Amino acid sequence: MEILSLGRMPIANAFISAVEKKEYFYDLSVAFCPECLMVQLRDCVPPEMMFNEDYAYFSSISKAMEEHFREMADEIADTVSGKPSPFIVELGCNDGIMLKHISRRGIRHLGIEPSANVAAEAARNGVNVIGKFFNAETAREIRNEYGPADVICGANVMCHIEDINSVFEGAELLLRDDGVLFFEDPYLYDILRYNSFDQIYDEHVYYYSGLSVSRLARRHRLMLFDMKPQDVHGGSMRYYIRKDSAESVSDAVKVHLKNEQNANLHTMEGYRGFQEKVDRVCSDLKNCLLDIRKKGGRVVGYGATSKSTTLLNYANIGPSLIDYISDTTPTKIGKFTPGTHIPIRSYSAFQTGFSPYTLLLAWNHRSEILAKEKEYRRKGGRFITFFPELYIE
Ligand code: SAH
Ligand code: TYD
Repeated sequence: MEILSLGRMPIANAFISAVEKKEYFYDLSVAFCPECLMVQLRDCVPPEMMFNEDYAYFSSISKAMEEHFREMADEIADTVSGKPSPFIVELGCNDGIMLKHISRRGIRHLGIEPSANVAAEAARNGVNVIGKFFNAETAREIRNEYGPADVICGANVMCHIEDINSVFEGAELLLRDDGVLFFEDPYLYDILRYNSFDQIYDEHVYYYSGLSVSRLARRHRLMLFDMKPQDVHGGSMRYYIRKDSAESVSDAVKVHLKNEQNANLHTMEGYRGFQEKVDRVCSDLKNCLLDIRKKGGRVVGYGATSKSTTLLNYANIGPSLIDYISDTTPTKIGKFTPGTHIPIRSYSAFQTGFSPYTLLLAWNHRSEILAKEKEYRRKGGRFITFFPELYIE
């Protein structure tokens, strides 16, 4: 059953080098399944088109995320301390932002990373990495070569994989009997609560909740036993899973499942009004930008995020409203945003050319960016934010 439709969309991370370049478009719409309680995309882009040697996202661009993943590595090291020769597997290790800490501790590990450019960076960071898509077959190969895993983990990757049943089958196969599988992704409850609809794009096939993850786990003889909210990407949830056993689940799982049920995420009722809320914030933002333009003001963007592809394309915001977007990722600089063709410039362009208004596209890094841009605001520069509502600060 459809809950949201965002029209024709290009691939979110497919920043183009020339505006004449032909782009791939698909229909971006989200559906809810009343049986497995999953919320997911209807139309999926083939994985090889998104995850390849040109993958635009390097995890280590954010200081806050560096800190987040250092803490995750500490937690993993605690979990396996005392075990003889533990083995950690991370899906979607990207540039090694987390596993480099595990590697530095001398713990046996393996990163699974199909995007060759970021995998090469992980290898440079001392991470043992293989360039594959994780699925049941890869899991079998890893188990044969390395033995069972004490910890299997993944951040912002489980929601990326269309054949999630193959991933869970593989995790069950690879996990040691007393091992832990944990992963974190943007949390459906928060997406609805904060209207962070721009989390919806091609790479994010699934929008998990405790309700859907507990069913998914059960289908593969696994059990969701704990949930920990994470203050990243506008509200994420970390799910802890182990092989099915008589052991009890944490109180946190009970509390979160209850909250989700109270928000009606198990029926269509919970999704009513979502489309209207999205439409309202998009039209408010567009009117605000048109108004600034009419008065002769200039607006630039901050952070050429994948999320912004959804916002800019759905709200039809292009270079006539945003001069350029500043971004610190070297591979994005000099390119154009997918579908809307706004030029992407370096951070120094932002620092040297003052623009009175800046659309904060990387709103998930708001505190880090506002702290960094005190001087810009002191000079009278103002940030336009649209999360959870439109405001100018
Ligand atoms: N974990 C990092 C990266 C998230 S981006 C972070 O949170 O910052 C998602 C990553 O998952 C990409 O690097 C992508 O190449 C990788 N990926 C996509 N499909 C995958 C699969 N089937 N198995 C393993 N990694 C995959
Ligand atoms: P990200 O948070 O990963 O969002 P998404 O998952 O939607 O792509 O990306 C943040 C982007 O913002 C990334 O391209 C780097 C950029 N960025 C800056 O340019 N400056 C900054 O200070 C920060 C924190 C990010």
